[in-house]
Amino acid sequence: HSVGIGRAHAKAILLGEHAVVYGAPALALPIPQLTATASAGWSSRGRDAQGELSFTMTGSASRTVVTQASEGLRRLTAAFKARMGITGGPHLDVILDGAVPPGRGLGSSAANSRAIILALADLFGRELSESAAFELVQTAENVTHGRASGVDAMTVGASAPLLFRQGRARPLGIGCEALFIIADSGTAGSTKEAVERLRHSFEREAGARERFLGRATELVGRSRLALADGEAEEVGSQLTHYHELLRAAGLSTARIDAMVAAALAAGSLGAKITGGGLGGCVLALTRPEQARQVTAQLHEAGAVQTWVVPLRRQSGHA
Ligand code: MEV
Repeated sequence: HSVGIGRAHAKAILLGEHAVVYGAPALALPIPQLTATASAGWSSRGRDAQGELSFTMTGSASRTVVTQASEGLRRLTAAFKARMGITGGPHLDVILDGAVPPGRGLGSSAANSRAIILALADLFGRELSESAAFELVQTAENVTHGRASGVDAMTVGASAPLLFRQGRARPLGIGCEALFIIADSGTAGSTKEAVERLRHSFEREAGARERFLGRATELVGRSRLALADGEAEEVGSQLTHYHELLRAAGLSTARIDAMVAAALAAGSLGAKITGGGLGGCVLALTRPEQARQVTAQLHEAGAVQTWVVPLRRQSGHA
């Protein structure tokens, strides 16, 4: 091929973010309507001095052009080359249409990495197994996030909601139909900083880590069963409890708290911050009848954009 194309979608964590870094389970949702697309082609600039693969990235969402690859992307391409047995090589241009907004807890870094390695594999005409794709994305995630659980790398390539634990994913059983409204607070947060902040707070206070992980695991377990049994209200209250857990850990913001309160007041079954935190998005579980009202109130409380992800009945074996 003269041009390779790769795509990957965004994700949202339903419950279990942060605890999942310490081996606890998390529930996650693919967001197919938010997709990153990468195209890779041979550069007209020819071979560079070191014979390295290098990047020109255009993020249409953020309207920035990055001419120097980040550390995460350099590791990603190095790992790709090592795995594929590609030595040296011509200069490549990778154009990334980053339609996943960055720093919003929606998995933009994992989606971008996955789109890029799929584009490179397509360009070189190589097959990439799912496990190879996951491991390559993790290489970049571990640099970008400091220490990544793998839930993002897994969910940006998944086609249905999943239960993730310690590197493995299983499809979730879902017995109800409802909507997740995802609302962007307009402020970016750093997952790396949030993960470090939580780790420091665990180091400062004896027992804090065990309490956090115990509560998180309990809420994830309850909502997994409630989802399978079609008890949407029960799922909603677990989401709101999880928000309280993250807020108490200092990972929310005033605007996010206001958005959560607004969604609940407008009739959401439950609402929480989602992803790394310190900014980003609110996730609100809502019956279709309340969707319009909840969306309006989220905007009123400061949301700059919203997306709707339907939750459809499906059998799973989680
Ligand atoms: C980020 O989507 C989720 C975190 O738990 C980080 C991770 O799992 O690597 C905050």
